[in-house]
Amino acid sequence: MHYTKPYASHTALRANIRQQYLADETRTVETLLNAFTSSVNDDLEIQKTAVELIQAMRQNEQTSGLMDQFLQEFSLSSQEGIILMCLAEALLRIPDAQTADALISDKLGSGDWQAHLGNSDSLLVNASTWGMLLTGKWLTLADGVKRSPYTAFKKMLTKSGTPSIRLALRQAMKIMGHQFVLAENIKTAVKKSKPRRDKGFNHSYDMLGEAAKTQADAKEYFNAYLNAITELARQAKTDQPDLNHGISVKLSALHPRYEFAKAAQVEAVLYPRLLLLAQAAYDAQLGFNIDAEEADKLEISLSLFQKLAEDPSLKNWEGLGFVVQAYQKRAMAVIEWLADLAQKEQRRFMLRLVKGAYWDTEIKQAQVQGYTDYPVFTRKPNTDLSYLVCAKTLLTNTDAFYPQFATHNAHTVASIIAYAEQASIAKDSQFEFQCLYGMGESLYTQLVGQGEYRCRIYAPVGEHKQLLAYLVRRLLENGANTSFVHLLADKQLDVESIVANPLDSIRGRTSHRHAAIALPQNLLGSHRQNTLGLNLADSDCLDIYYADLKKWQSHQWCAAPILASNEVSNTAETVSIPAGASHLIGTVQTANAPQIDAALTSAQGFSADWNATGGASRAELLEAVAALYEQHRNELMALCQLEAGKTLVDAVSEYREAVDFLRYYAQQARQLFVAPEQLMGPTGEKNQYQLHGRGVFVCISPWNFPLAIFTGQIAAALVAGNTVLAKPAEQAPLIAWRAVQLFHEAGVPLEALQLLIGGGAEVGGKLTSDRRVHGVVFTGGMDTARLIHQSLADRPNSPLPHLIAETGGLNAMIVDSSALPEQVVQDVVASAFQSAGQRCSALRVLYLQDDIADEIIKMITGAMAELETAEPTLLDTDIGPIIDTAARAALQTHLDEFKS
Ligand code: FAD
Ligand code: 2OP
Repeated sequence: MHYTKPYASHTALRANIRQQYLADETRTVETLLNAFTSSVNDDLEIQKTAVELIQAMRQNEQTSGLMDQFLQEFSLSSQEGIILMCLAEALLRIPDAQTADALISDKLGSGDWQAHLGNSDSLLVNASTWGMLLTGKWLTLADGVKRSPYTAFKKMLTKSGTPSIRLALRQAMKIMGHQFVLAENIKTAVKKSKPRRDKGFNHSYDMLGEAAKTQADAKEYFNAYLNAITELARQAKTDQPDLNHGISVKLSALHPRYEFAKAAQVEAVLYPRLLLLAQAAYDAQLGFNIDAEEADKLEISLSLFQKLAEDPSLKNWEGLGFVVQAYQKRAMAVIEWLADLAQKEQRRFMLRLVKGAYWDTEIKQAQVQGYTDYPVFTRKPNTDLSYLVCAKTLLTNTDAFYPQFATHNAHTVASIIAYAEQASIAKDSQFEFQCLYGMGESLYTQLVGQGEYRCRIYAPVGEHKQLLAYLVRRLLENGANTSFVHLLADKQLDVESIVANPLDSIRGRTSHRHAAIALPQNLLGSHRQNTLGLNLADSDCLDIYYADLKKWQSHQWCAAPILASNEVSNTAETVSIPAGASHLIGTVQTANAPQIDAALTSAQGFSADWNATGGASRAELLEAVAALYEQHRNELMALCQLEAGKTLVDAVSEYREAVDFLRYYAQQARQLFVAPEQLMGPTGEKNQYQLHGRGVFVCISPWNFPLAIFTGQIAAALVAGNTVLAKPAEQAPLIAWRAVQLFHEAGVPLEALQLLIGGGAEVGGKLTSDRRVHGVVFTGGMDTARLIHQSLADRPNSPLPHLIAETGGLNAMIVDSSALPEQVVQDVVASAFQSAGQRCSALRVLYLQDDIADEIIKMITGAMAELETAEPTLLDTDIGPIIDTAARAALQTHLDEFKS
């Protein structure tokens, strides 16, 4: 068996969660609307409360602190806002002044800063530089002359001025850090939280650090959590978790491969760590919340949570908590599943309801991976509606849940106040509100107190080094134009428009999708379709694929040359998988000299007819091939896995690239191979311009992209009106054979595309030395490219052919200290080792700035230690086999040379 479901689902509800993963938004919203009941009176009441809350917040001028004003002016919908965020993200990593100054000039040199002058009431923000923002005064430049902010700013960007900006910017970053992070360590954090505790707030501490890249980092984060729990245990005053301090844990901090594909490892290695932390929290009766991260981690989080809920050592503990993100279409399904689990285990969970902090990432990820839909809503009111429906459900399920409503939105808060009253829930004991440190305090100060509502502050603790990912999410939240906190800070907006009932812009619509956010497959608009991918974090998708793979694993493909004529091929030889000579997957017959000759003759004979068919009809054919590729996706992917040793991730990419090529060249043909263009000229003369095929093209492709490059070369040559003789890599004839069959099935004539399987010298050499060939498309090594070049040039009495060669190279990456180390390591490891490092674009040489080299090398080494080298069809394999023993020997020689 090559894939075992990572975890068994314990109820049908779990299947329901999976079904909702990428559900249709309109249908989901309709379901939510049906579940949602409210009366006009309720709505008015909520509106009234929300308005009062906001008016009080606005009256309290401190709410609109410098940071609010600043983020208001430089929102992320402005180019300058984005520039500043990039700069903020990178600056503190730069070890030397010179590079920091260069970065500042580089970033701040663009952007229309003058446009921001005068937009804000605040003189400081008006000054439009962070430097000015922070130092609290306009900088007097070295020459002692005071200037207007804009001129001063421009001047500062010159060489002599950047040091002042640098110092100010660093200061700004510190202020930002202090804005969102309570303290550097837990002891200080507890001390610093005292004044707020006195006001009636409770806390859940979050140890900064997430997405560990190495086991060493994961251990460090684990120790930080354990240490924090130990400290909080000392402070625990009661045996009631809802009254004690709490802790919030990010599972991605506890293991470097917290991924769906690594479920077995996560269970074996991460779970014991998590259990230790939970047991420590249980001993002190603290609240212990598992934060919600990216959507593709939800399923493994649920499984780990279930294990904790079932663990006998944690029985009767009411501090165990989970976070549900309302922006996910599955939110309600998750709550139903958790309620079911609570009932089964006869316990109550803490449940923090958030809207979600990773929206941008989710949208992008779904587009890049070509998912059928998004895991999150695309319209903000839909997220709000989902939150409200979830909130009502929680408030009527207080046997199963201690609801924790995390929001900074006054309308949402007002709604919950109303729902709690309707459900007759005690406001001072049966649920709580939550806000993030540095946000929402002025909202909740109005509500907390003896006999009043409870509110817990989520308080990040840690050093600047670990702050960035968290900080970026906060900047996104505060700078996004849809965000409540952002609207609140905009003094131009009247209170009513900020607290608009989300239902008002939902009811009555026929489509609930955002008109400007196309589905992932329609991302490229009329240009072409984005090829659908396979969601590798969805076990339903995987189940279907693996069931098919199982079938294909015992299939035998019998490849042979595919010709327009009937010559007999060479005798068949067996084909095995790269990782094992004993696993046979088919046979192959190579082409012989008479076949090659006959193929050339028919290709030449048909080329004028083929060229005459026109670009549009050829484009249609390619699109028909693309459709067939999609129809046979699992077989093509299985072939890539079996014959070429591709991992699942690589097989999906390979298949998608092949389909992309087909659609791309179809689109190009429609644009380029059109009716003749009439050119201007003297009377009596007719001049026309038109592109057409050149004749016979030979396409020679490599084994490392046996489907994508093979398809791309053929598609381009064919659509341009050439007849094609395809010579695939010797190591991957089955894939090529199946692909060519699909071209023909789609209607490409046999004479237009023939397949000549065989060795470079025997088949490739014969083809490229034949004068009937008008062009060669080649991807492969430089040596072979030279041989082909020579062979084409040596043909006697032959017109000059075209050679399009894409050869290998040494790809280098240059990394300076502005890059986030975790990002660098992720990209380095992917570039160097994905596809077993066998891409022509694979990273071969890494240049690191001296100051960061040691740290990065250590992290790369740690990340490499987590790579699984195994059979490629296993889901958790990162690196599959090298294509054959010859390739392996070449690598070994290289390695030996380096070692010596
Ligand atoms: P609002 O402005 O009313 O809503 C913002 C929400 O709308 C965001 O989720 C945003 O993504 C969404 N949104 C914006 N535009 C669109 C659109 N076009 N379509 C659909 N949705 C849209 N987040 C996590 O992910 N995991 C956590 O574990 C977590 N823990 C938290 C703990 C606490 C105590 C708090 C206060 C927050 C936590 N968050 C967490 C962050 C939380 O997700 C954000 O603070 C929250 O989304 C803000 O919601 P709001 O009601 O304050 O703001
Ligand atoms: C985040 O880290 C608060 O968990 C939430 O963005």
